[in-house]
Amino acid sequence: MPGHKRGQGIDRRFAALMGETIFRLDLPELPELEAAVANAETLAAQAYGSDRAWFLTNGSTCGIQAMLLAICGATCGQGDKVLIGRNCHKAAIAALVLTGATPIYLPTDYLLEFDLDLGVSPETLELFLQKHPDAKAVMLVSPNYFGVCGEIEKLVTIAHSFNVPLLVDAAHGAHLGFHPDLPISALQAGADLVVQSTHKVAGSLTQSSILHLQGDRIASEQVDRALQILRSSSPNLLLLISLDVARRQMAIEGKKLLTETLRLATEARSRLCQIPNLRTFDQIAVPTLDPTRLTVMVERMGMTGFAADVWLHSQLDVMAEMPTLSQLVFIFSLGNTQNDIDRLIYGFQQIGKEKGKREREKLVPITNYQLPITIPKSHLTPRAAYFAKSDRIPFNQAIGRISAESLCPYPPGIPLLCIGEEITLEVVEMLQCILRSGGIINGASDDSLETIRVVN
Ligand SMILES: Cc1ncc(COP(=O)(O)O)c(C=O)c1O
Repeated sequence: MPGHKRGQGIDRRFAALMGETIFRLDLPELPELEAAVANAETLAAQAYGSDRAWFLTNGSTCGIQAMLLAICGATCGQGDKVLIGRNCHKAAIAALVLTGATPIYLPTDYLLEFDLDLGVSPETLELFLQKHPDAKAVMLVSPNYFGVCGEIEKLVTIAHSFNVPLLVDAAHGAHLGFHPDLPISALQAGADLVVQSTHKVAGSLTQSSILHLQGDRIASEQVDRALQILRSSSPNLLLLISLDVARRQMAIEGKKLLTETLRLATEARSRLCQIPNLRTFDQIAVPTLDPTRLTVMVERMGMTGFAADVWLHSQLDVMAEMPTLSQLVFIFSLGNTQNDIDRLIYGFQQIGKEKGKREREKLVPITNYQLPITIPKSHLTPRAAYFAKSDRIPFNQAIGRISAESLCPYPPGIPLLCIGEEITLEVVEMLQCILRSGGIINGASDDSLETIRVVN
């Protein structure tokens, strides 16, 4: 293996496109490579400041599932309790289905002015730990899609004061810790298990992530055991190589590269603020913000983020990372150049001018829905709901029923409705509004959202 035998049997047109080297490096697991990967993981642990690192070739999705599988489960009936931020990624809900753990969802704070999720506050975590001191773990997202990191040091201290490990989905935080002007990373703050999508913001290939462990609250054998179940027995060597290269790049050049990234982000923010009806925010408004994330509020231009995204992409090849009803979120990384910033600013200037206005008239009007919507009541664990008998019924008749699906706008992949939760009118209307406005809803067995699967 592989069948193409180091490129000899690969389709010739594909080889002409890709070059030969890539296929020579596409090797199966070999004993000498195992040692090299182990060395690379040790170097990654050193660079990021953890005690042990695991390279993952199935993204942070795999890391999130491994974190929970290492700690929580259900032998029979009710599973172990895990306190989990309700802004978690759908991978965490999938992990709850796999493990059978019982989620206690933690509400997150919200900043109305910028339609912004601020994550779980220390006060909320403390309150919930007092109510549920038997929780096996706390799982939080930091930074979130908007770059809000939250008071991660305080959150770590609180979890540890209850002797509960803190697991952090830092999918968006693989660059933190490499520049003094960035918020501190979850690892620097002392979290026990942290997963980072190196591919999202650092320089590795898509799907490559790193899972880190520190301290002695969780034994590394527990993580090994979980990964034995979840990982492929044929990890892609190119992805593993790219993780090692990205680690090296960050360790050696990270500060210099991020200085330029931060400069570009600062310039973009200040130039965008001069465009009428556009708003952004910075660390003054949101102190724990990662400044390499830029959220542009477009609602005062009379259009949704979805519409602005389509316009920018189709007219100028400017791509936002995440459109929402009211915003566009951009990621600045070491791959951006001055030209990208100039195009971004030009694009928004054009949207603001007549040409943009004519296009806008065709667009779906923005919703007046009250945000944030109320978290639906949870009736069944995700696992119980997943394995329960279910029926498909019209979406509009599903109010009051228990959902057998998790539905999330994608990005960011945070379920508005989790499997096992009660379907509310508010959620139905919000999901339909997002779909109508050009957003994508992920997780639905019926993409049109005309029907939904509910627990029988
Ligand atoms: C907060 C968060 N966690 C986890 C993930 C999944 O990461 P990956 O794509 O590396 O599997 C994502 C993906 O967008 C995410 O936004």
